[in-house]
Amino acid sequence: MQLERTLWHPVALSHAVGGQPLAATLLGEDLVLWRDGAGQAHAWMDQCPHRGARLSLGRVRQGQLECAYHGWRFEGSGQCAHIPATPEFQPGPRYCARSYAAQEAYGMLWVRLQEPEGAPQPLHALPLFAAESEPRLRKTTSGPYFVNTSAPRIIENFLDMAHFGYVHEDWLGSREHTAIPPYEVERTERGVLATGCLAWQPRSSIHAESGAQVEYTYEVTAPYMAVLTKVPEAGTTAIEGMREAIAMFVCPVTEETSVAWTRMAMNDFESPDARLIDFQDTIFGQDRPVLESQRPKRLPLQPGAEMACAADRMSIAYRRYLTDSGIRFGTLA
Ligand code: FES
Ligand code: FE
Repeated sequence: MQLERTLWHPVALSHAVGGQPLAATLLGEDLVLWRDGAGQAHAWMDQCPHRGARLSLGRVRQGQLECAYHGWRFEGSGQCAHIPATPEFQPGPRYCARSYAAQEAYGMLWVRLQEPEGAPQPLHALPLFAAESEPRLRKTTSGPYFVNTSAPRIIENFLDMAHFGYVHEDWLGSREHTAIPPYEVERTERGVLATGCLAWQPRSSIHAESGAQVEYTYEVTAPYMAVLTKVPEAGTTAIEGMREAIAMFVCPVTEETSVAWTRMAMNDFESPDARLIDFQDTIFGQDRPVLESQRPKRLPLQPGAEMACAADRMSIAYRRYLTDSGIRFGTLA
C-alpha cells in the first residue's frame, strides 16, 4: 500500500465544488468532484463504469451526476440509478461509480484514496483554522496556485526565511537584514516545529505601518502541509495585538506538479477578502518562478544531496521527517 494514498489531501476549495462537476488530480489519480442534492460533496474516480468516459465531462441533474456519454445517472452513493437507453432496467449494485472518502474542513474538500490499515486516520486537527473552534480569528482562503514542482519543494519553501530579502524584497524581507538568527527545531508527534524564528520585514501584512521584527513559528503538520504563526512587534501594525496564522495546503497532483492554497486566520474582521487574497497572490507570485526553476523538482532526501547552511535547520528537519515517515511521492530518496 502506498502510504501517501492513506493520508487526507486537499483537492479543491469547498465553494468551487458546486453546481457542476469539477476535475481534479490527486497522487496521479483523476477525480471528479461534485455536490449532490443534499449538499454533500463527493470525490469519485473520474471514469464512468459504463465505457470509461470522464464523469467530469458530465453534469449534475436533480442531485445526480449524469455521464456526458450515454447519460447514465449516479446517486451520491455512487449507485447508478438510471440508464436512459434501457429505462425499464433497474441497475444492480455492480453498476456503481468508484468513490473515495471525502470530507470538508478549513474551507477545503479533503480526499483519502485508500483506507489505512489499523485505526482510521482523522483529518489533521488545525483548530486555529476551523471556523467553529476559533471565532476570534477571521478565516480566508487563497488559491488555487498551480505549480510545476513537487509538493515537498513548496512546503520547504514555505518553511524558509532566508529567501525573504531576495524573493520578497520590500515585502517580507530586505537586503539590509538578511541574517537569520538561530532558532529552535524539534520533532513533534505529527511533524516538526520551529520556534523563535526572527525576521525583519518591511511589509509583513496589509496592516504593517512600518518595518518590523516579526517572530514566526513554523510547524509541519503533515507531509504536504505546514502552518506558520507570526507576531509583529507591538506598535508596527494598524491592528493592536495583530495575530496571524497561515496554513499552506498542498495537493500532490503528480510527482512533479502540485496545487497549493493558503488558509489565513487573523484577528482582522474589517479588510475585504479580496485585499487579503491579493496580498497572498502577490507573495505566491514572487515564489512561483523560483519554485518552478528548482532542479530536481522532487525534493532530494539524501543528506548531502544539496548544500545547506545553519539557517536551513528547519528544511533539514523536514527532509529527515519525510524520510522517517516513509514519504516517497514528490521526493528523491
Ligand atoms: Fe458513461 Fe456510457 S460511458 S454512460
Ligand atoms: Fe516565499
